[in-house]
Amino acid sequence: MKLFIDSANPTQIQEMWDLGIIDGVTTNPSLAASAGVDYKTAVEVILKTVDGDISLEVLSTEAHEMVVEARKLAAMHHNIVVKLPATLDGLKALRTLSAESIRINMTLVFSANQALLAAKAGAYIVSPFVGRLEDAGEDAINIIHEIRQIYDNYDFQTQILFASVRSTLHVKQAALAGCDIATVPYDILQKLINHPLTDVGLKKFLDDFVKSKQKPLI
Ligand code: E4P
Repeated sequence: MKLFIDSANPTQIQEMWDLGIIDGVTTNPSLAASAGVDYKTAVEVILKTVDGDISLEVLSTEAHEMVVEARKLAAMHHNIVVKLPATLDGLKALRTLSAESIRINMTLVFSANQALLAAKAGAYIVSPFVGRLEDAGEDAINIIHEIRQIYDNYDFQTQILFASVRSTLHVKQAALAGCDIATVPYDILQKLINHPLTDVGLKKFLDDFVKSKQKPLI
C-alpha cells in the first residue's frame, strides 16, 4: 500500500519524504491555512521535494470551469493529479479530462455507488473520506470493503485512496481492506513510527547492559 502525506506543510513533507516512507502528497488550501503557509508557495516547494503523485484540488464547482482549471493544474507538473469533487459537475468534468489522460482523484466520496461511478468515468484515484463518514455515524470500513469488492469484481483499475485518516488504526484498516493508498496526516505518521513499548524495551536493554557490567562487542 502506498502512503501519502495529507499536508501543506513543506517542512513536514520534506521530513517524511527523506525518511522514505511516503509516496505522494494530498493537499488543499484548507491544509495550507491550518499550517499557516501560503498555498501557492507551499505547492511550488512540494513539487520540488516529492517525486510522486501530488493531488491538488480545483476550486471551481461548475463542470466547464473545472475542466479549464484542471487542465492548467495538470500542465504545471507531470506529478500532479487533479482532485475533483464527486458531484454531477465533477463527473462531467472527469469524463472529459480522463479522455485527455489527465489523472483525476475523485474526492469527497462517501458511498460505494459514488466510487463505482467515478471508476466507470475513468478516475485514476477515488478518495472515500473514512473519518468524516465515521463522524456521521456510518460504518465507513464496510464501505471501503464494498468499494474494493466492486473494483475487483469488474477489474476497475481506479486506485482506492483511504482519506480522512484520524488514527493509526485507520492506516492498518486501509491496508487490511486492500486499499491502494492511504493519505495520512503528519501527526499520525509520527505515531506509526513510534511505539512506547519500543522506547521502554530499548531503555531496559541499555540499563541491563550497564548494570551487568558487560563489555561492548565493538
Ligand atoms: C484528502 O485528500 C483529504 O484532504 C483529507 O484526507 C480530508 O481529511 P479530513 O476529513 O481530516 O479533513
